[in-house]
Amino acid sequence: MTEPRFAPNRRMILNAFSMNCVSHIQQGLWVRADSRQTEYLQLEPWLELARIAEAGCLDSLFLADVVGLYDNYQGSADTSFRQAVQVPVNDPMLLIPAMATVTEQLSFAFTSSVLQAHPFTFARQLSTLDHLTRGRIAWNVVTSYLPNAGSNLGFDGLPDHEERYARAEEYLEVVYKLCEGSWSDDAVIIDRVEHVYADPSKVRQINHRGPRYEVQGPHLSEPSPQRTPVLFQAGMSDRGRDFASSNAECIFVVASTRGTAAIRRDFEKRLNSKNRSISEVKLIGGVAPIVGGTEKEAIDKKNDYLEQLSVEGGLVHMSGNTGVDLGDIDPSTPLDGFDTERVQGLIKNLIDSAPPGTRTFGDLIRSNLAGAWLVGSDEQVANELQNRFDAGLDGFNLTYSVTPGTFVDFIDGVLPILQKRGLAQSEYTPGTFREKLFGYPRLPRTHPATVHRQP
Ligand SMILES: Cc1cc2nc3c(=O)[nH]c(=O)nc-3n(C[C@H](O)[C@H](O)[C@H](O)COP(=O)(O)O)c2cc1C
Repeated sequence: MTEPRFAPNRRMILNAFSMNCVSHIQQGLWVRADSRQTEYLQLEPWLELARIAEAGCLDSLFLADVVGLYDNYQGSADTSFRQAVQVPVNDPMLLIPAMATVTEQLSFAFTSSVLQAHPFTFARQLSTLDHLTRGRIAWNVVTSYLPNAGSNLGFDGLPDHEERYARAEEYLEVVYKLCEGSWSDDAVIIDRVEHVYADPSKVRQINHRGPRYEVQGPHLSEPSPQRTPVLFQAGMSDRGRDFASSNAECIFVVASTRGTAAIRRDFEKRLNSKNRSISEVKLIGGVAPIVGGTEKEAIDKKNDYLEQLSVEGGLVHMSGNTGVDLGDIDPSTPLDGFDTERVQGLIKNLIDSAPPGTRTFGDLIRSNLAGAWLVGSDEQVANELQNRFDAGLDGFNLTYSVTPGTFVDFIDGVLPILQKRGLAQSEYTPGTFREKLFGYPRLPRTHPATVHRQP
C-alpha cells in the first residue's frame, strides 16, 4: 500500500464549524450556561466568534445549513422543535457582511443547497459577497437530504440521489457561465471623462438552455475578486465523490484515520481522470476537540458535557441523516446492505471501518452520539491531529461542544503546539481565500468552470 505524498510546504487548514441555529451537531448542550448558542439571533455573538477565529489565524468560519425539518423521528418533527435540532435555523449568508466588517483576513464558507435558490439569483448573491469581503468567500455546494426541504421548495419531496447530483451539475454550469464567462476582465473601465462605466462589447449573455434551467444573462454583477468563490463539497457517496472531483476545491470527508489514505488515493485517481490534480484540492475532516491543560481536565469536561448531551436529540439528527426512524429500530439490526437516499457517505464509512457483517444500527447510533469527539490534553489532541494530517487529511472543521468556549480552548491550548511544529499558520497570507489556500486567485485552467471564460 503506497503512502500519500504531499507538497513540501503543506499546512493544516483549520475552520471553525457552526450553524445559524440553536443546536448544530452536539444536541442538548445549548442548555449550558457557558454556551452562547441561544444568542444566535443577535449579531454580537457572531462578531465575537469571527474575531476569536481571526485572532487564532483560523482559515475560515464554515457555516452549515438545512432548508427543511428533521421530521421522521417517531413520525414527526415534534422532538426537533422541543430539542431545537437544527430548527429554528436562520440564513447563514446574511451573517457574513457583518462578520466581514470586524475581520480583515478570516474567510467565510457557507452552505447553500442547489434546491434552494435559482442559480441566477444565487450567482448574484455569491458575487455580491465576494465583492464585499474582497474575496473571502467559499460556497459549500450541497444537494439536500431532508424530504421536507424538497417539499418546501416545490419538488414534492426529495428528488432522488442521482437527480439531485444531476441538478447540481447543471446548477454549477449556470453559476460558472455567469461568474466566469459573462464579463471580460477589462469590461469595467470607469472612465469619468467619457462617462463610460463598462464597455458593453465586453459583457455577454450566457444563453444557457438546459433540462432544468434557462438563463439568458448577462450576469448582473461585475467580476468579483475570485469570480467563482472557493468551492466546498460534502457528499461522500460514489456519485458525490465523482461530483466533488469534477468541481470541488475543498472536500469535507468522513474518514477514520485508517481509512484516510484510501480516500485520498481514491480522490487522486478520480481527479487525475479529469485532468485535475490532488494538489488543487484540500481534504477536510471533521473533529470535535475537547481539550484541557491535562488529560484529566479534558475527561472531566467531557463527562460534564455528557450530563447534558441529548440522546433523543442525537437520534432525531441521525434519523434525518439516514431516513430511518431510529426511535423505532432494534439496535442489533445489521447495517450491511442498508442503503439510503440521504447521506450515504456516513453509513458507508462506518460499514467499511469494521469486518464485513459486524456493524449494526446500535454502532451507528453510538458512533454519532459520541461523534467526532477528540478528548485529551492540548498535547494529545495536537498529536492526534498531526497523525490525521500525516495520514492524508489537509485540515479540519472544528465542531464545538460549547460556543465560543470550544474554539477558545483550541486556539489557546492546541494551536500554539501546532504552530510551533510548523503545522498551522501563525499569520495569514495576503489575498483572497483561494490565494490563502492555494496561492492563486482564480480557478486554475484545469477546472471545468474555466472553459466558460471569455478568450
Ligand atoms: C460531513 C458532511 C457535512 C454535510 N453538511 C451539510 C450541510 O450543512 N447541509 C446540507 O444540506 N447537507 C450537508 N451534507 C450533505 C451532503 O452535502 C450531501 O447532500 C449528502 O451527503 C448526500 O450526498 P452523499 O450521499 O453523496 O453523501 C453534509 C454531508 C456530509 C458527509
